Amino acid sequence: MVIITETKKFQAFYTKSTPIVDYMIGKLSLKKSDRIFEPCGGDGVFVESILSENYEAYIDICEINSLSVTILNQKFSNYPNVTIRESDTLLDVELVFSRRYEKIIANPPYGAWQDYEKRKTLKKLYPDLYVKESYVLFLYRCIELLKEDGILTFIVPDTFLNLHSHNGIRKHILTQTQILELVLFPSGFFPNVNFGYANLAIITLRKKNNVSDCYNNSFNVFYNFSTVEQLTNLNESNINQCVLSQKDILENSDSAFFVTENMDVLQAINKSRLRIEDIANCVTGFYSGDDKQFLHAIDANTKNSKKYKGVIPEMICCDYKNRTDILDGIDGKQCFIPIVKGGNIRYLKPEIWFMNWSKEAVQHYKTNKKARFQNSKYYFKYGIGVPMISASNITASLIENKLFDQSIVGIFPKDEKFIHYLLAFFNSSTCNKLIRTINPSANNPANYIKKIPLRIPDEQTLKQITIMTRNIVSQVKKLGYYDKEEESKIQNMIQELYGF
Ligand SMILES: C[S@@+](CC[C@H](N)C(=O)[O-])C[C@H]1O[C@@H](n2cnc3c(N)ncnc32)[C@H](O)[C@@H]1O
Repeated sequence: MVIITETKKFQAFYTKSTPIVDYMIGKLSLKKSDRIFEPCGGDGVFVESILSENYEAYIDICEINSLSVTILNQKFSNYPNVTIRESDTLLDVELVFSRRYEKIIANPPYGAWQDYEKRKTLKKLYPDLYVKESYVLFLYRCIELLKEDGILTFIVPDTFLNLHSHNGIRKHILTQTQILELVLFPSGFFPNVNFGYANLAIITLRKKNNVSDCYNNSFNVFYNFSTVEQLTNLNESNINQCVLSQKDILENSDSAFFVTENMDVLQAINKSRLRIEDIANCVTGFYSGDDKQFLHAIDANTKNSKKYKGVIPEMICCDYKNRTDILDGIDGKQCFIPIVKGGNIRYLKPEIWFMNWSKEAVQHYKTNKKARFQNSKYYFKYGIGVPMISASNITASLIENKLFDQSIVGIFPKDEKFIHYLLAFFNSSTCNKLIRTINPSANNPANYIKKIPLRIPDEQTLKQITIMTRNIVSQVKKLGYYDKEEESKIQNMIQELYGF
């Protein structure tokens, strides 16, 4: 049985950060006559701040959790101008038929738990949205609740800017509103929150019923903050800034927001005729279903190997590459084969992890519900592995006819002559700029890797990069390290090709 705490269920993470609250309230440009809506009140941080500026402000609050409603009543029941409603903002029908607001401010729940019945109802109400992500639903509903020219400011994860699943909310924002400003910063700026999968965004927008008003709008994006206090002074020199046009975003593939001040990067992403998927297959790798049982480490010094058994050297199979029936498993004692796992190591990873590949084990992988015997035609092929999660920069290493696990995207060029060029490219800062603009989170799933724009050098340069990258791989094999100057030379050649 899954036990969900109240905090998790309602995603009750309150905005206890003065710079964030001040920035958001500032963005509302409040007027005395404004009717304001707070769709998920919590303990009333935003309401308190608004009332401290104007104790007569008209504010309607919705809150689903009765404990929070009690707190809100204690704080605000003396204000005749504040209305508190215990209800579900996403389903409350009366809300939609009652009034429209001049201003809306919120820190909605992110990924709040919805039971299956509610999910079904939400799917009917919001057919174009990814209903598992609650903040997107709040954003949509609140845009609907704004008056023409009404302003909304929301603090949310930045995943709505790029993920395929949020195409629906992007189109809604881009055609129903004018974005006034977007700020992007690490989730760690928010007290007691630090989710690895995304950063936070504060989006401020104005409702517009006329689509061409929306198309013709451009707005500033501020990013690369060092401290949360910088939110109160966006002119500080080390904050990056770029201007995006809604028309351009709508024309981008997937209507994704590509945040970069580098026009060459943007051009490459939008205009490139060739992408990685045109010359290579990009696939996710294998999972045993129970790594504790089947995965063994070379020895106890292997990083993160505490939970795993050590492989017995006599049980390692050395000729697995020559076996045509390898996908059926190996008979006999020598049935452990090397597997390439995640971890950001460039060019070539040491052989430190081994998978049980006995006939019985393989039968288990093919039939067990938890196991993923996916994309098996790429197992034991010569390719490149890019870890699904990269700490800072994207990295790549060779998969030399080995098995690769699901924390890796395997890249298999249709023509082998591109292998070393791609290996160099995926380790370059050029590629890093492209992938982080296409998807700013630390994740590199196959679907995004496929979309990276590709430029192929002339034959001579291709040969030169291939030879130099081969040298680096040989150095790693022989010495365990490689010549960084040689690497910079390759990177410069790739930079010249792309212009960044
Ligand atoms: C992330 S907290 C933010 C609270 C407050 N706005 C703040 O910034 O501190 C989200 C709040 O939304 C409430 N909530 C969650 N789902 C809701 C729903 N469907 N309708 C109304 N409120 C909801 C939670 O109980 C929680 O208090």
